[in-house]
Amino acid sequence: MRKGILGAVAVAALALVMAACGGPDLPDDATGEQIYVQMCARCHGPDLRGGTGVALVGEGATSIDKPERYFVQSIYAGIGRMPSFRRTLSDDQILRVARYIMQQQGR
Ligand code: HEC
Repeated sequence: MRKGILGAVAVAALALVMAACGGPDLPDDATGEQIYVQMCARCHGPDLRGGTGVALVGEGATSIDKPERYFVQSIYAGIGRMPSFRRTLSDDQILRVARYIMQQQGR
């Protein structure tokens, strides 16, 4: 009985650690595109043109002339109704997905 509880606690702790590292599906060295598809596309759309979240490219995209630090800050801390990714993505992964979006914006 006691052992069962300890085992459950160990599994829960491991799950937490894995969640903190971005989950088992997202390798540390994932490209900006891979990160976008897994973490962002459900709100910003597979083509970055928006959905629940705002458009990041094309008509209506207001971030088109924003600096890199604006993207990093928005993803790190969250912005408006968008959640923070500070616990699910590493600083490096945030920078990579920020650069991926800027690249898709043609810069
Ligand atoms: C749960 C839905 C959701 C997810 C997931 C999400 N976003 Fe957002 N995002 C939003 C919403 C909503 C806004 C608009 C925020 C506001 O200003 O109210 C936004 C805004 C942004 C902005 C600022 C856009 C602008 O025009 O100023 C950027 C950049 C951004 N998201 C990038 C990302 C990236 C990169 C990811 C994945 C790591 C991501 N988002 C995941 C919903 C989401």
